[in-house]
Amino acid sequence: MSKIVLEHIDKFYGSNHVLRDINLIIEDGDFMTLLGPSGCGKTTTLRVISGLEKPQEGKMFMDDRPIIDADAAFYEVPSKRGLNLVFQSYALWPHMTTYGNVAFGLKIKRLPKNEVNDRVMSALKVMRIEEYKDRYPNELSGGQQQRVAIARAIATSPKLLLLDEPLSNLDARLRIDMRAELKRLHKETGTTIIYVTHDQVEALTMSTKIALFKEGEISQLDTPLDIYTNPIDLQAADFIGNPRINFVDGTALYNGDSLLVKSPLGEYNFPGKDIKADEECPLGVEFECVLGIRPETIELSLENPERKNTVDATVYASQPAGSETLVTITVKDAELLVIQIGLKDYDVNQKIYATLHPNRMNVYNKQTTRLIKYAHTTQP
Ligand SMILES: Nc1ncnc2c1ncn2[C@@H]1O[C@H](COP(=O)(O)OP(=O)(O)O)[C@@H](O)[C@H]1O
Ligand SMILES: [Mg+2]
Repeated sequence: MSKIVLEHIDKFYGSNHVLRDINLIIEDGDFMTLLGPSGCGKTTTLRVISGLEKPQEGKMFMDDRPIIDADAAFYEVPSKRGLNLVFQSYALWPHMTTYGNVAFGLKIKRLPKNEVNDRVMSALKVMRIEEYKDRYPNELSGGQQQRVAIARAIATSPKLLLLDEPLSNLDARLRIDMRAELKRLHKETGTTIIYVTHDQVEALTMSTKIALFKEGEISQLDTPLDIYTNPIDLQAADFIGNPRINFVDGTALYNGDSLLVKSPLGEYNFPGKDIKADEECPLGVEFECVLGIRPETIELSLENPERKNTVDATVYASQPAGSETLVTITVKDAELLVIQIGLKDYDVNQKIYATLHPNRMNVYNKQTTRLIKYAHTTQP
């Protein structure tokens, strides 16, 4: 078992308030990713959980056992927390080989020699570094050293694995392979993982849950699918997804039953069941809004498909890239990026028809930046 609860954690460095009222529940077996741009407090949160930093306010529990109680100045020492931490800047012991580095933690535990060997070899296999087992760190590339550091952490079978940007030094191809390996590792061992990254693709591909950080606060906590489909504010929408979501300005009027939005794309009357009616969505007053439209939710056709929500568009640019084609189109004075599967080629300034799916759009209040109309994950 390894459930972590953080309650009202505040952390200051001098007068710099870097964690603001962090509340987070990490269930046993979760792959929880702390995601956000550089400097938003992800590493600090990990250091608080591991015991390397003491927060000034708040509580932490591990399987209901108190680990931090700032009011009582109680902080469980790191060694009693039963966790293992891998940093972006990993420190391998320079005088030990790969094998020696990975075996070290196991020998300290006084495990029998053959069990040490089995565990080391299986960790090296997972990280695909068996062939480097007799090399010293200075004979390994940065990416190889990073894999040794991860192997060292997983070999001890920790209850909780904390990983801080562990793939950042790897090349693009190896990063994709390692994402798959970490995901398998999580499934096979059931270890609770807390993973820090600024890379939204890593977060979306591996996590069971994502905590999205913004300037020391958690702005959204959701599954990858929910974060991708309904980012909670304009910053989150802009941050999640590559290529990025399209934003189109418009005006909105909410009458209690439905939300009428006018924009260069035409008029949409969104049903009330998709609307989160609160202070973000004033009743009976027109306000400025932003439509959020994912590039893969727009369909293009050369002939008029005679379908609802189809608008005339013009091709601004087309980028065929083998497995997909990125097409930039204009609709009146709005510009939209569209992803099409497969290799397509369009001419610049070519006329085209774009079919939109209102139930897959998000609507944000432009002033408060908050989400007011939720998108459906799939077509009904
Ligand atoms: N040891 C430290 N002393 C003072 N300020 C720090 C220290 N570590 C981090 N900070 C500051 O705390 C904020 C959050 O940092 P960090 O948690 O490392 O962000 P992230 O990991 O999301 O990039 C930043 O403004 C950073 O400059
Ligand atoms: Mg960091």
